[in-house]
Amino acid sequence: MTKDLIAITDWTGREIRDLFGLAAGLKDENKRCKRHPHLEGQILAMVFQKPSMRTRVSFEVGMAQLGGHAVVLSPSEIGIGKRESASDIARVLSRYCHGIMARLFGHDLILDLARHAAVPVINGLTDFNHPCQILGDLFTILEFRDGFEGLKVSYIGDGNNVVHSWLNAAARLPFTLHLACPEGYDPRPEVVENAVKAGLSDIRIFRDPREAVRDADVVYTDVWASMGQEEEAEKRKRAFKGYQVDEALLAGAKEKVRVMHCLPAHRGDEITDSVMEGPHSIVFDQAENRLHIQKAILVTLMGKNRKDR
Ligand code: CP
Ligand code: NVA
Repeated sequence: MTKDLIAITDWTGREIRDLFGLAAGLKDENKRCKRHPHLEGQILAMVFQKPSMRTRVSFEVGMAQLGGHAVVLSPSEIGIGKRESASDIARVLSRYCHGIMARLFGHDLILDLARHAAVPVINGLTDFNHPCQILGDLFTILEFRDGFEGLKVSYIGDGNNVVHSWLNAAARLPFTLHLACPEGYDPRPEVVENAVKAGLSDIRIFRDPREAVRDADVVYTDVWASMGQEEEAEKRKRAFKGYQVDEALLAGAKEKVRVMHCLPAHRGDEITDSVMEGPHSIVFDQAENRLHIQKAILVTLMGKNRKDR
């Protein structure tokens, strides 16, 4: 087990499956109002360069439910890489806190934090990836099917941080991952290559969303312009024309297809209002499960029972 969670590929398939088991147990206890103070007295520092609702609230609530506490550091307070270097911040926070969760622009910054922190560092999204999101999404998928064998996930849209984590997941767990991205918006080739090389999953990139969603169990989408790309929004709207997840597109998937979106969504762009609110949508289950999977991540990395400590 690594000290940190920076990418899904940091962990083995076994470790990821164990995480799902732990999350299921914590979710069940939570539903039964059973206390589980696994991190009593522990403090998580949360460093934000970008906005967040789900990540911030689910980590803060999660720490409280585990008997610990979270300290939020907003961009203006900490100025990572500007007011102070990531390496100095990592070493100071390690003297006060038992773990660090960070949401940053540059992926290099989180690697720097992890390298210099004495405590576990959890990636709460960078420009490059979003591991907690896709671990929560896979856990959500396991709530409606027994395993990953035979699962087909179709992702429609930008080859962004969310897709990189989906590709990382496909390098550790066996499923079919078919993407449809407009030309010029593919995921990074080395991430695709590494996932294909792992030899576990059927990974393909299409231009036509209808080809990608054929017989899909899950149709997934995300915003066309991610945080930090706001100025490109209009240009991207034109480039992504035809990549909207709407009812017509879903008709080509399995009858019981589930629709997923990491949120926040731009209704009317990458997904229609009626699909978001429709019978196939499980977007709010996904959002809830960020809480349960992240509690499992916190317990795994910060818990006193960690096997290798
Ligand atoms: N999906 C997600 O990470 O949401 P936030 O940006 O609100 O944290
Ligand atoms: N790709 C999106 C994900 C938000 C959770 C972004 O980076 O803004």
